[in-house]
Amino acid sequence: MYRTHTCGQLRLSDAGTKVTLAGWVQKSRKLGGMTFIDLRDRYGITQLVVEADSPIAEAAASLGREYVIQVEGEVIERASKNAKMPTGEVEIKLSGLKVLNKAATPPFTIEEESDGGEDIRAKYRYLDLRRPPLQKALALRHRLAQEVRTFLDNEGFMEIETPYLIKSTPEGARDFVVPSRMNPGTFYALPQSPQTFKQLLMVSGYDRYFQIVRCFRDEDLRADRQPEFTQIDCEMSFVEQEDVLNTFEGMMRSMFKKALGVEIAPGIPRMSWYDAMDKYGSDKPDIRFGMTINEISDLVKGCGFSVFDASEYVGAIAVDGCAEYTRKQLDELTEWVKRPQVGAKGLVYIKLNADGSVKSSVDKFYSPEQLKAVADKCGAKTGDLVLVLCGPKRKTQGQLGVLRLELGQRLGLRNPQEFAPLWIVDFPLLEWSEEDSRFYAMHHPFTAPKPEHEALFYSDKKEDLEKVCANAYDFVLNGSELGGGSIRIHNADMQSRMFDVLGISKEDAEAKFGFIINAFKFGAPPHGGIAFGFDRVCALFGGQETIRDYIAFPKNNQGRDVMIDSPSKIDDTQMEELFLSSTYTEPCA
Ligand code: AMO
Repeated sequence: MYRTHTCGQLRLSDAGTKVTLAGWVQKSRKLGGMTFIDLRDRYGITQLVVEADSPIAEAAASLGREYVIQVEGEVIERASKNAKMPTGEVEIKLSGLKVLNKAATPPFTIEEESDGGEDIRAKYRYLDLRRPPLQKALALRHRLAQEVRTFLDNEGFMEIETPYLIKSTPEGARDFVVPSRMNPGTFYALPQSPQTFKQLLMVSGYDRYFQIVRCFRDEDLRADRQPEFTQIDCEMSFVEQEDVLNTFEGMMRSMFKKALGVEIAPGIPRMSWYDAMDKYGSDKPDIRFGMTINEISDLVKGCGFSVFDASEYVGAIAVDGCAEYTRKQLDELTEWVKRPQVGAKGLVYIKLNADGSVKSSVDKFYSPEQLKAVADKCGAKTGDLVLVLCGPKRKTQGQLGVLRLELGQRLGLRNPQEFAPLWIVDFPLLEWSEEDSRFYAMHHPFTAPKPEHEALFYSDKKEDLEKVCANAYDFVLNGSELGGGSIRIHNADMQSRMFDVLGISKEDAEAKFGFIINAFKFGAPPHGGIAFGFDRVCALFGGQETIRDYIAFPKNNQGRDVMIDSPSKIDDTQMEELFLSSTYTEPCA
């Protein structure tokens, strides 16, 4: 037997017990002739002690970091206890030690906080994964996956796998493609989601489907985006929006309760997409704090300040207790909003000073009463700072939204241990692209219009189509989109109309989605569903925004796995077998 206990198990009540442990040497130090070793496994760390006159003293003294060892000994009470460690009241007085495997010196310290930079830790990911924060992250991921399966199984959902080698799916990113050797010159696409398959399963009568499934999207990467990521993908038949929201509110509440012990009150708030955009400048508002956006166009336009006069929209936020911001701080904030990532042209402020006076960067154009009226509209009080941006409506709201989040962060209003979920509902069905002069589906082309907007959906007028609301919803937590879904179109005529509205020709629609249009002719039930980004769920539950630590072997920002060195070239024979030729040439250095 390699071990009788793990390295996280022994307590004072075990004193006197003879034990065998196995694990990695985290560190070893000599003190007054004795050798102390921290032995680690994924359960914890146990201190080992070897007396100066012990027959294994020499072997103990020569152990290197990360050596794999097996030890025998007796559990004894520690003279100097460590209250920070669960095993901190005991140590093992060793009588035997066996080196199971030596280890090269690791390129960074394998402890709670490592001294290694991101790149080196990515290259040696298997060593980084030995560190407690990553082990905790993967344990949380495992726990959440178990909870999802238990919850959905109890609700009558069946887990059904769908293929990975498929045809392009309509989620809007680029596809990763795989050449087919047996069908020369043709390619599979990896699924951006199992969207079409889960809808086909509804046609087949599997009225409650789920899958914890890998999805692939070739898009620009960010902290919360990976080229391959995991969804909790679900679909239900004979449901309306209300049924879907209730079921998955139940799932999320159960995950919070079981994995974190956090009680989320029933009746998760709902907000229309329009309100979210108007008040938070985002379709994924962080509602842990206020500082909402207010339109002040009617209060400030027509007073001679040409910048506001020429703007479609003027909006403002009130920042609690920041009237004391110095000139330097305001200049810094102005530069901050002018960065390309935010894109504002400038920033106007109004300070409601403690002495009751009002000071603003646009004093010249507005009386104190006018400025006070703006402050009142934003709900600002004495001691607060009002910040104003102007420009095209949605763009300016977006910029105010980004500024709001930044200030929320700086003022410590975004506590990662506080959870504020909400549903965003009533999305527009379609988005007009000026650039391409055509509509795009805001969710995807299988999303149904709200029944009360069906007549508008068949109108030929652009302004009617812009008003059509989708039967769609997103689940948002702390400013992050965790999930999204919709009630689907389930009849072939309406689906054809959708392709029509999106400017997809009959031939194109037939070539890309003929299989699903056809399936809808054979008795498709009304259905709808949702998919949650599982990596994002894990990261947010863990109090983080980057999903990388919650994925065992993630890609870096260039979409590379630097550990296995992928993607990489394939040899000429493989290229030939696949009928591929490359025209790519390395750029000159
Ligand atoms: P959607 O495209 O909104 O919907 O994706 C659902 C959820 O998946 C997560 N997500 C990602 N997570 C990590 N990296 C990525 N690159 C990435 N892209 C998306 C997000 C998102 O909310 N088929 C539809 C669902 C449906 O209609 O049922 C779909 O995939 O958390």
